[in-house]
Amino acid sequence: MTNPAPRPSRRVVLTGSAAAALGGLVGGFGIGQITTGRAEAGNTTDPAAPSAGYRGFHGRHQAGILDDAQAHAVFLGIDLVPGDLDASGQRERLRSILKLLTEDAQRLMSGQGVLADTEPEMAVMPANLTLTVGLSRTMIELIGDSLAPDSLGPLPDFGIDELREEYGQSDVIIQLCAEDPTVLAHAVRALRKNLRSITTVKFEQRGFTHATSSRPAGSPFRNLFGQVDGINNPVGGNREIAVFGFEPGDTWFPDATTLVLRRISMDLDSWDEVDRPGRDFALGRRQTDGSPLSGNQVQDPVDLNAVNEMGLPRISAHAHVARAMPHGAQEVLWRRGYSYLDGSNAGLLFASYQRDVAESFIPVQSRLAELDALNEWTTPIGSAVYGILPGVAEGMYLGQQLFEAAGRS
Ligand code: HEM
Repeated sequence: MTNPAPRPSRRVVLTGSAAAALGGLVGGFGIGQITTGRAEAGNTTDPAAPSAGYRGFHGRHQAGILDDAQAHAVFLGIDLVPGDLDASGQRERLRSILKLLTEDAQRLMSGQGVLADTEPEMAVMPANLTLTVGLSRTMIELIGDSLAPDSLGPLPDFGIDELREEYGQSDVIIQLCAEDPTVLAHAVRALRKNLRSITTVKFEQRGFTHATSSRPAGSPFRNLFGQVDGINNPVGGNREIAVFGFEPGDTWFPDATTLVLRRISMDLDSWDEVDRPGRDFALGRRQTDGSPLSGNQVQDPVDLNAVNEMGLPRISAHAHVARAMPHGAQEVLWRRGYSYLDGSNAGLLFASYQRDVAESFIPVQSRLAELDALNEWTTPIGSAVYGILPGVAEGMYLGQQLFEAAGRS
């Protein structure tokens, strides 16, 4: 590996787990204070990275996972065109797709057009572009029957779901993120052109968050309800533990992880009719500054035992944060979502990275599906889960480790 990311130390691991188990809180302001001190564990901290505006492609983990969200994102879901190929032919087609994506990602992230690019000039300033590639369970099993654990989906049917096929599971996911929407538009188009003879596009879901210039890097964002979102999200070494576990064997494949992508529609018109106390009650935090109803400062803990002068809980048991709060370290997930807005259709491209979907996302989402005051205004309309591939060293292609593990190098 050219750029091995440091692993969290055993001491941090123990401290992080113990603290999470004891406090039940995994906030950017809680556990974040007892990390290794590394701002980010992703490839952005690579000292060999050329300069600002470039995120290194090679490394133990893919870029675009641990690093803070860039302003714009496209989640490109593609399906392999099987044609009349048998399993072995399809496997080779998948390998070709992965090789092509590796080549394109390397070039685009380093400011070069893809091969035969008709507008290579558009790639020159990559604006922190990252491409992150994952596979559906079916594709992983195509590489090797025993490579995908049960936890890699499909997700159970949650009672609140009103899923649309068009935003459902694709064979391959490519998460493209950049600070600049024009760079992103070029990258998406270049990929689509290169892949079009062997794949079909299932979806192209676009999202945005704040421009980097409008807020400090890594700070929470305002979602389209106006709420401060992403406060109790793991940071530093704890983010790395939530996403990659303590050791390589903690994830479905060494240095791999999982992505849950849910398109959640948000009814802004009916939300408009809710007054401030009602909004704050539904979330358990104040819209003004994100502070929890159990405290006054944004970094105060979400304390479900706090009561007011009448002895009533300050945070309702139905509030979103009360229901979503992880029940122990194993449930912690790293939310790296984006807002979407298309005419009057608004919502959240909920994207979470986690070590194990069954141990984290599913219990949290199940609690929310059972009871969450925010459900009144939100509806999941898309859902998919992916195994995100390990990072690669120079000369390797994405997914190569899986082919080798399956004896198909
Ligand atoms: C449109 C849908 C959603 C909206 C608008 C929303 C919004 C928010 C907001 C504003 C917060 C408080 C700030 C923070 O700590 O980040 C929050 C917390 C949280 N949300 Fe959501 N969320 C949504 C869906 C989900 C889903 C689907 C999950 C996971 C299955 C989830 C998991 C969490 C978690 C784990 C927390 C932190 C709870 C804590 O420990 O305090 N959210 N959400």
